[in-house]
Amino acid sequence: MRQRPRVFVTRSLAGPALARLAEHGDVDVWPEPTALPPAVLASRVAPAEGLLCLLSDRVDAALLARAPHLRAISSLSVGVDHIDLAAATARGVPVGHTPGVLTETTADLAFALLLAAARRVPEADRCVRDGHWRPERVWEPDLLLGRDVSGATLGILGLGAIGRAVARRARGFGMRVLAWSRTPRPLEDLAGGVELVALPELLAQADFVSVHVALAPETRGLLDAETLGAMKPGAILVNTARGGIVDEAALAEALRTGRLAAAGLDVFAHEPLERTSPLLALPNVVLSPHIGSASRATRTRMAELAVDNLLAALAGRRMVACANPEVYDAHERPETGHSRPVSR
Ligand code: DGY
Repeated sequence: MRQRPRVFVTRSLAGPALARLAEHGDVDVWPEPTALPPAVLASRVAPAEGLLCLLSDRVDAALLARAPHLRAISSLSVGVDHIDLAAATARGVPVGHTPGVLTETTADLAFALLLAAARRVPEADRCVRDGHWRPERVWEPDLLLGRDVSGATLGILGLGAIGRAVARRARGFGMRVLAWSRTPRPLEDLAGGVELVALPELLAQADFVSVHVALAPETRGLLDAETLGAMKPGAILVNTARGGIVDEAALAEALRTGRLAAAGLDVFAHEPLERTSPLLALPNVVLSPHIGSASRATRTRMAELAVDNLLAALAGRRMVACANPEVYDAHERPETGHSRPVSR
């Protein structure tokens, strides 16, 4: 094995994390501020032992097959649906991700979208900018009427760290909080402020639904025409998780007909959102370009954790946050307590 592992990084990152990585490895950084073409990704990963990638880089079985030296993948994201985890595990490659450090920042954006959609903030902003706020209409009793957040019922889909952080915010706003979770979750830290319910009950009762499940085969299209149709009439949907969880065509139709009052969306089935998307023509949708974790401090913490994960794995230690911990199973080295992925 080379003394200094070769690492490919798919985007230059602000802050000191990459410099720390460069102290330990020969680092090749894609210099452009634009997405990496898949063919370039494949050729740059081919000689690498480590890969630090973004959620926009597709790391599939074919790419892994062309990277025979790869020993560690680290993604600057908590979600890892862009990586074929099964293929990585089969090749003995641990996949790092960044849970925890982005929880509060992402919950903030979910709540920002919820408030903006409820109170029609983008429409209000356009009203002022476009000169529709005129002297003869200085204050209108029925201008841009929205929904109250306080006292309303919020339904949270997925009660992981981000869902819980949204629940805490909702309690602060005086909301009743319902939650649906695919896996059993302890609720003690939420101090009785959240009621776990079945999905149909949540959809029927919630004035706001906020999505916080990971994208997986079981959750793809979870909110389709049928489940969107089961939502309370006039409800508002917020999605800061992954676009593939929601059927966008069905959502656009529900918003167009007024069956749903509004939506706040940070994530889309295809990113960037296609210019032909019907969502763009709807005034009752607040759109943002996948910025859930986008605060300077959080992105710095994500970069640090991504580098920690990579350096640990390249040094033969367990990653700090590993998305496929099963890669370590049965490969624990009892004499050190350290872990080593299955060798290929
Ligand atoms: C993630 O980390 O998965 C978010 O979507 C972006 O921070």
